[in-house]
Amino acid sequence: MSFVDIAHLTKRFGDHTAVGNVSFQVPQGSTLALLGPSGCGKTTILRCLAGLETPDGGIIEIGGNRVFDKVRGVDLMPEKRELGIVFQSYAVWPHMTVAENVAFPLKVRGVGAAERLAKASKMLETVGLKGFESRSATLVSGGQQQRIALARALVHEPRLVLFDEALSNLDAQLREQMRLELRLLQERLGFTAIYVTHDQAEAFGLADTVVLMNQGRIETAGPAREVFARPSSAFAARFFGMNVLEGRSAGAVEGTDRVVVTLGGRFGIEGVAGQGLDPTAGTPVLACIRKESVRVSRDAEKGSVPGTIAAMSFLGVAEEYIVDIDGVSLRAMQPAAGFRRGDAVHVAMAAADWIVLP
Ligand SMILES: Nc1ncnc2c1ncn2[C@@H]1O[C@H](COP(=O)(O)OP(=O)(O)OP(=O)(O)O)[C@@H](O)[C@H]1O
Ligand SMILES: [Mg+2]
Repeated sequence: MSFVDIAHLTKRFGDHTAVGNVSFQVPQGSTLALLGPSGCGKTTILRCLAGLETPDGGIIEIGGNRVFDKVRGVDLMPEKRELGIVFQSYAVWPHMTVAENVAFPLKVRGVGAAERLAKASKMLETVGLKGFESRSATLVSGGQQQRIALARALVHEPRLVLFDEALSNLDAQLREQMRLELRLLQERLGFTAIYVTHDQAEAFGLADTVVLMNQGRIETAGPAREVFARPSSAFAARFFGMNVLEGRSAGAVEGTDRVVVTLGGRFGIEGVAGQGLDPTAGTPVLACIRKESVRVSRDAEKGSVPGTIAAMSFLGVAEEYIVDIDGVSLRAMQPAAGFRRGDAVHVAMAAADWIVLP
């Protein structure tokens, strides 16, 4: 059963459509990530859900309760929507103690002082801040402020929690740690969560379902693993950092789902035909492959093609290369092998790793 149901949501700012006819559902207790480049409408969707923005059209239901319906004139106040929000800017209140910050949503709801403190303390323990109750909220680190914001969003036990780039301000190590902790916390407390992020690792790390947005519309959506493994469009492939190369079909491989693609002069590949592909020879197509699926080595092997290292960058455990193959630039990522610019190499790619899109 879905806990959040958004249907045909539309929000315009002047003549700019920030969100255009967006529909998706989030099953109870599951997690969804809204992913996409800056300005694609992620925050606007969250704000519409929270009641902080009035949509121009559509229906929003939370927990079976219709909170917005343009046609019927329903528009519930934010505080009646019973959800928690965590923003990128932690927005902890500097004039309050840590415990007062966390207890605030309970105060607004008229909960008595003793119960407020007890619940705030318990939630602080949950997020790893036991003993911080009476500290001034600004006298803690950025990571701790983010935990305070998290505790404050969860203290009134909302069944839906919205996160807007909530981990973006944390350093890489803390962000990874919080990602794992959030996942555990979400499973333990059982709330339904929507994470807004432009970071794909965060989206795939936190969410069961990923919705990729492009200019106010849904580009692709589905189970996280599927969306990642089989990008359905060039936009998705590029967003996920794949090689996207222009080429021409040289025809389907009879009796298979494969198609042969000419990329450079003599360089061609065989790949899996994506949805809606016309394999007729001569049709322009896009051949996509993950950098990690391109193997660069010193020696030739069966099916490999010769190339030249055009650029390299050292990333610590890995190295990224741009390999020139017959005038075609292909990016590769693999454990550091020490190739340098100008090195003659051999490049191996499996047909199963190429996706050919219209
Ligand atoms: N209050 C506003 N008035 C006018 N335009 C707005 C307003 N809020 C958002 N927009 C525009 O709507 C579009 C979507 O904005 P939104 O904040 O939802 O993007 P986003 O996906 O959250 O981006 P980011 O990753 O940068 O946070 C943008 O083009 C933005 O400039
Ligand atoms: Mg945003």
